[in-house]
Amino acid sequence: MQYGYFDDERREYVITRPDTPYPWINYLGNEDFYGLFSNTSGGYCFYRDARMLRLTRYRYNNAPTDAGGRYFYLRDNGDVWTPSWMPMKSSLDRYECRHGMGYSRISSARNGLAFTQVSFVPLKDNCEIHKVTLTNESKTDKNIDMFSFIEFCLWNANDDMTNFQRNYSIGEVEIEGSRIYHKTEYRERRNHYAVWAVNVPVAGFDTDRQTFLGLYNGFDHPDTVFAGKANNSVASGWAPVGSHHIKVQLSPGESKALVFVLGYCENPEEEKWERPGVINKKPANALLEKYSTPEAADRALAALNDYWNNLLGRFTVDAEDKRMVRMAGVWNQYQCMVTFNMSRSASYFESGIGRGMGFRDSNQDLLGFVHLVPERARARILDIAATQFPDGSAYHQYQPLTRRGNNEVGSGFNDDPLWLICGAAAYIKETGDYSILDEKVPFDNKEELADTLFVHLKRSFDYTVTHLGPHGLPLIGRADWNDCLNLNCFSKTPGESFQTTANFESGVAESVLIAAIFVYTGPDYIEICRRTGRTQEAEHAEKAIAAMTGAINQYGWDGEWFLRAYDAHGKKIGSSECEDGQIFIESNGFAVMAGIGLEDGRGQKALDSVKERLDTKYGIVLLQPAYKEYHLELGEVSSYPPGYKENAGIFCHNNPWITIAETILGRGTRAFETYTKICPAYREDDSDLRRMEPYVYAQMVAGKDAPRFGEAKNSWLTGTAAWTFVSISQYILGVRPEFDGLLIDPCIPSTMKKYSVTRHFRGADYHITVDNSAGSEKGVKSITLDGKPLDGAVLPALGDGKTHKVVVIM
Ligand code: GLC
Ligand code: GLC
Repeated sequence: MQYGYFDDERREYVITRPDTPYPWINYLGNEDFYGLFSNTSGGYCFYRDARMLRLTRYRYNNAPTDAGGRYFYLRDNGDVWTPSWMPMKSSLDRYECRHGMGYSRISSARNGLAFTQVSFVPLKDNCEIHKVTLTNESKTDKNIDMFSFIEFCLWNANDDMTNFQRNYSIGEVEIEGSRIYHKTEYRERRNHYAVWAVNVPVAGFDTDRQTFLGLYNGFDHPDTVFAGKANNSVASGWAPVGSHHIKVQLSPGESKALVFVLGYCENPEEEKWERPGVINKKPANALLEKYSTPEAADRALAALNDYWNNLLGRFTVDAEDKRMVRMAGVWNQYQCMVTFNMSRSASYFESGIGRGMGFRDSNQDLLGFVHLVPERARARILDIAATQFPDGSAYHQYQPLTRRGNNEVGSGFNDDPLWLICGAAAYIKETGDYSILDEKVPFDNKEELADTLFVHLKRSFDYTVTHLGPHGLPLIGRADWNDCLNLNCFSKTPGESFQTTANFESGVAESVLIAAIFVYTGPDYIEICRRTGRTQEAEHAEKAIAAMTGAINQYGWDGEWFLRAYDAHGKKIGSSECEDGQIFIESNGFAVMAGIGLEDGRGQKALDSVKERLDTKYGIVLLQPAYKEYHLELGEVSSYPPGYKENAGIFCHNNPWITIAETILGRGTRAFETYTKICPAYREDDSDLRRMEPYVYAQMVAGKDAPRFGEAKNSWLTGTAAWTFVSISQYILGVRPEFDGLLIDPCIPSTMKKYSVTRHFRGADYHITVDNSAGSEKGVKSITLDGKPLDGAVLPALGDGKTHKVVVIM
């Protein structure tokens, strides 16, 4: 069953009933200020770092789910209801939530009172705007009491949820007219506060949670709203909240619009106070002045729309298959922006207090983002590289606010360094900007250790070369891409981290996946060397790659597919010799992507084995057979019940590797099939089972061994977003940035008879139409550029700001 539909014209997903199978959320904000916003107005917001600078509180893993948000309560002639359905679960005469590009709009009505809330973060300002419109659709006058409600987080979201002995005594607020200021810890080391304001006079306010709700009430029964009158409570310790009481009179047919702003403000250290004990409100005044009218809010929303129109204009696609079109053209790219911004920090599955930016995750995220805002990808690459150690290894994660490596997780994930080459190569191919290689970047965040980005790439490359095991394959370290393949962990202690513990320094466990990633990124590294005159280095790299390819051929092939790894005792993982875990998806996808086994048919055999043993109707599972019991020598992968997560779940991130690999073999029909199986838009009418948003990819769908086969989890923050975008845009539709220009190399189902793509590339636009009346799957017969036959398949970077017509005949 469906809970909504795509409005392609407006690039919105329209949710038509509030009780979706899970909260279906959207992200507000693009640069510094972010909000998570569910279809019932749940969620929270933060400035730059979801852990350190959280503005509003959120209760994870709660019952009911999705508790906390920006709530509005309406009291209409004694009838109290919440127009976003939650938290009161009010019965509504109408309900709709439209999630769009950076904004959401909830509309509802009850008893002749209509409500609309448009929520977004304006470009460039650090605030959420909630424009609320009330309309009297009845035949009589209405006197409405409206109450806003948010609950402040005491900034550090981790401390906020744990350190009550302190926190119950530190909450402080100031109130000035319609403006509520949250200033906890401002008296000491903070120079920032939050403001929650409305642009009209209020009848009263509340800032103390207990007073507003009643100690034994939930958000669904605030005493104050039922009483119809605010208490003007001033929080002192406990839980500071922000609630405005507004009286709205509406004659029949009349509408009124109010603008609520939830902002983050900072003062220079010397200008913290207006007078003793009173915060300097200058920055808040300026912000609120700017958004003091509904028209100003509308203009800011229009600017946001322009921004997205422009961004999504950089890659558009038109084809018969509307589900592919809306995903590749809109939602997948949108999700790539979100994963680029958030890494794996804040979602409804990531608390925002745990993981920061991931080294491998962020490098992969930019593969799907670099065409949108190349400058930001450039800055990101430099940030990531600065957390690399001088020996080429890397902090696995870093904190966005400080951009420093995260000591708690440390390093030792031996695939990490290679993703930096992958990210940097993608940036250079997109932009042609080799100057990034000359940027001086610290190692381990220490300026005195700075060297050029090229040197960082070289250290990444060499790290792999110098960390080889007994078979000449890369040592896995704590884990490779599969965080849960912890071959040196040997953990018997409950609760001990699988990923940061090494109880057995084997120096033996090796990864075939890292070997394949090495051979895959190698040619890009060589190209970078050659194109910047580093011939010797290129030759050194060629030898290393040849040796690695040899090692994979000799020790990485199992007969019908590629092996996955060798454990700490030198035993095979992912082999027909194993009882469980005989075949894994990752090494098979990446080996073929790396071009291994293409001449002798092993590549095809490997992918045929993947299809035969790992494929399901909802996507390809990570391994088979699932591990039935815990294996000390394998770690977390065997800790999950069969069918979930890395233990034979459909871990969507690596499905596009198979898609890409299939296009390399030229099997367009199969490639497209693997693309559609995990693509959420194709499962829209199956939402009761899938449960997650139909407009975003999820990290995992439960595999065939799981009781809940087909159910998705961990939507939004997943490398699936970037890799599926790469697979569909570059390998299926076949418009792929290369060092010299845009390569045209489609690999499509024979039934796809035509499509077109527009691609912005290095300062020009290319309108590419592909004619496949021949019904082929791969192979371009001719290409014309602006009417003239093109020699080869690479469109040159014309950089003239014009639109060029490209016609491709397959
Ligand atoms: C998660 C992690 C990613 C890892 C993957 C597989 O998505 O964010 O870094 O590669 O799981 O374990
Ligand atoms: C957990 C997850 C895994 C993820 C890792 C990140 O182990 O199961 O998917 O990659 O955490 O640290």
